[in-house]
Amino acid sequence: MKNFLSVKDAGNIDSLIKTALDLKKNPLSNQSLGKGKRIGLLFLNPSMRTRLSTQIAAQNLGMEAIVFNASQEGWSFEFEEGAIMNGSTAEHVKDAAPILGNYFDILGVRTFPSLKNREEDYAEKILHQFVKYCGIPVISLESATVHPLQSLTDLITISENLPLKNKTKPKVVLTWAPHVKPLPQCVANSFSEWVNTWKHTDFVIANPKGYNLDKNFTKDATITDDQEEALKDADFVYVKNWSSFEDYGRILPVENDWLLCEKKLQVTNNAKIMHCLPVRRNVELSDEILDSKNSIITEEAGNRVWAAQAVLSSILNSLS
Ligand code: CP
Repeated sequence: MKNFLSVKDAGNIDSLIKTALDLKKNPLSNQSLGKGKRIGLLFLNPSMRTRLSTQIAAQNLGMEAIVFNASQEGWSFEFEEGAIMNGSTAEHVKDAAPILGNYFDILGVRTFPSLKNREEDYAEKILHQFVKYCGIPVISLESATVHPLQSLTDLITISENLPLKNKTKPKVVLTWAPHVKPLPQCVANSFSEWVNTWKHTDFVIANPKGYNLDKNFTKDATITDDQEEALKDADFVYVKNWSSFEDYGRILPVENDWLLCEKKLQVTNNAKIMHCLPVRRNVELSDEILDSKNSIITEEAGNRVWAAQAVLSSILNSLS
């Protein structure tokens, strides 16, 4: 693996999941792999899970990990080619990224979308400039449109909760949930893309009218605005808010109550509940579900370490 920017870099997903689960059983099995190597973790936005799990994963492999909270502690970056930098930006990515490439063996980068300019966000302009100018392997720690480490984690977590009785393919439902702020589509895009590529599930997406995701990610998934119908016989319910892709970055008026509760889940096959976190309690997901035995959210977040460690292992193997 050279870079890890989306599912397209994952190779064989089942093999990556197996590596992650083997590492979970034996986290320190390959401490010599990263010896003498250093990863830089550059955050242009806040993070808890991605930052800590990737640091732990690197340390498990014998690597040094250095976190740079660039949006709070660094010079503000310029990304425009030919910019006359007489405004608020102080350092061009063309100057900064090669230095990061000099200091580190692998670079992790977290960017976020503007949610104002769909074309620019979906072109992944910021992430691709770090890739172009740093000259070392890059891992996405979440970008404008996808969150591949989260999605790999999600498939690891689903795999761990298989097999199901009397079923060869689990029914996985991604359901939109309310939120007070416009959020990126990236977790939902990425989850859809990975589930579609994995091909081991019956996949249904439930969202209100106006909230359909980009077809490039949802492909042939069943899409419905009837949440109750979608939830019938579900084995896994992935809950997530996203802002409108069609009316880009906006929160639209929504009919019906999309907040899940225990009663709504009665039509499922005793479904396990997933969420990438952070979650706004009783806005995006109710206390009764988050605190129920069906929630596998903590287990899911724990698996972030093994996803990151599997990806780092693959990149380190390609370096040596
Ligand atoms: N799920 C996730 O990426 O969490 P953080 O934003 O805390 O890293």
